[in-house]
Amino acid sequence: MTNNRRPLISGNWKMNLNHFEALKMVQELSYEVTRDDVDALDISIHPPFTDLRTVQTTLDSDKIPFFLGAQHCHSEKSGAFTGEVSPAMLAKLGVRYVIAGHSERREIFGESDELINAKVRAILAHDMTPILCVGETLEERQAGEAEAKVQAQLKAGLARVKAEQVAELVIAYEPIWAIGTGQTASAEDAQTMCAVVRSVVADKSGSDAAEAVRVQYGGSVKPTNAAELMSQPDIDGALVGGASLEASSFARIVQYRLHDL
Ligand code: 13P
Repeated sequence: MTNNRRPLISGNWKMNLNHFEALKMVQELSYEVTRDDVDALDISIHPPFTDLRTVQTTLDSDKIPFFLGAQHCHSEKSGAFTGEVSPAMLAKLGVRYVIAGHSERREIFGESDELINAKVRAILAHDMTPILCVGETLEERQAGEAEAKVQAQLKAGLARVKAEQVAELVIAYEPIWAIGTGQTASAEDAQTMCAVVRSVVADKSGSDAAEAVRVQYGGSVKPTNAAELMSQPDIDGALVGGASLEASSFARIVQYRLHDL
């Protein structure tokens, strides 16, 4: 089955790499990634806030065609929010994609569905693209509640987002039990859940939005499993954590098309 969705491979560095290391990483990646790769798909990198300016100037000055991404942001434009970074500040830096509702933000920092929805709308209001993350815990999966959890997160996360904006979004299905554990969802399970994501979008925003929205899988994506995951009809990309911290492994994921299934 073919579709017109352009794949998006994103590297979420989490709280890793200082700005010197970031510069080295971006340059190494730019040597490994080819023109054919960037013709075939979009690549975004999501460094910590302290690296963003360095990465932005490196991408600009060396004309490296990766999209700049951020890992989260506040929902307000400015104000007395000590320690926070606003979507307006990210937009000014040329950030294109902002992760919202990563499970680590939900679980460790207590971000609610309502707050994540406010962030999604704020990111869109600043002409950036949210990567809205959803996913179930191991207990929820074992209890047969994975679909219900993801449906509820999506309904809340997409509240008051217009259908044409939903069409532009990226949604990342990241089962929590697969994040940083080396235990990837099977391609079949990942496909089933990414299809659930698309059907929730269809119910909420119509079939055009569902056909257009890009759905990533995240959770222990590696060079060895990327091709099989990406061959699934409802998986349009990958949100990569650990394997994005080494240029050669991230480049091999970006080059999944060249690998045998
Ligand atoms: P890992 O690839 O390290 O499992 O992390 C996935 C993730 O959380 C990306 O956002």
